[in-house]
Amino acid sequence: MTIRPIITAPDPRLKQVSEPVASVDDELRALMDDMLETMYDAPGIGLAAIQIGVPKRVIVMDLAREGEPPAPQYFVNPEITWVNDEEVRIYEEGCLSVPDYYENVERPARCGLRFLDYDGKPQEVACDEMFATCIQHEMDHLEGILFIDHLSKLKRDRVLKRLLKERRLREKELA
Ligand code: NI
Repeated sequence: MTIRPIITAPDPRLKQVSEPVASVDDELRALMDDMLETMYDAPGIGLAAIQIGVPKRVIVMDLAREGEPPAPQYFVNPEITWVNDEEVRIYEEGCLSVPDYYENVERPARCGLRFLDYDGKPQEVACDEMFATCIQHEMDHLEGILFIDHLSKLKRDRVLKRLLKERRLREKELA
């Protein structure tokens, strides 16, 4: 397993729409292993393949709380099958591709999800609470959408400007 560099905004790759996976084979499992290791190292609770520059519809997640054993989850070609718009959940989201920034995002509180698991077996589940919030955040990545795209232009521009500035500073230090 290899820790891969995480792409941060603003980067045009994060705007890409990811492609469906043709088959869940050993090569894809190696990618998922790398994604999980990268996510744990960051540390984060969810990661989409595009965040390490691979435009495939693959997500890894681990929602275990502190003190609980690791509970890795893998989602290949995930599809939201239904959403309950009547109830929303507001959560202060963050993203490994938008470092050091957290803001409230409102999303449907419940949704259905269909996907292939680590072994390529089809699964269907109902999501609520943290699972619903996190999977919708990660599914957005597959469409080239970041959580800051759900915020006002003012807030989004402010954080992107800061990230650009920080990147330029880092590049200057490395030069
Ligand atoms: Ni994210």
